[in-house]
Amino acid sequence: MLVAGRAIYVDRCSSCHDADGSGTGDGPRFNRGRLVQVYPDLGDAAAVVSDGRDRMPAFGGLLTAGEIDAVLRYVNEVL
Ligand code: HEC
Repeated sequence: MLVAGRAIYVDRCSSCHDADGSGTGDGPRFNRGRLVQVYPDLGDAAAVVSDGRDRMPAFGGLLTAGEIDAVLRYVNEVL
């Protein structure tokens, strides 16, 4: 699960959120526990990833719910 999440993150997210989740100017920082501070219910973060928001692209048509869950678990537990 975390390995799959990492692969998706590197492929789809790191260009805007940086490899370590510290943000690049294009996407906000969400490493070191910040994701769960902003989204105590990770399902709310999954909705942002699925639907997109502002300059954050929608991934709902590209990733399954399970893949979005995996990538958010990777962000939350590893970054
Ligand atoms: C093209 C650049 C880009 C890519 C690629 C991208 N994001 Fe984002 N992301 C953003 C931007 C910009 C925002 C801020 C949106 C806003 O201001 O509402 C954001 C916001 C978010 C948020 C909400 C953060 C918060 O503090 O509210 C999450 C969670 C998130 N992205 C996860 C991901 C994940 C997971 C991926 C890969 C599947 C990803 N993003 C790929 C640009 C990107």
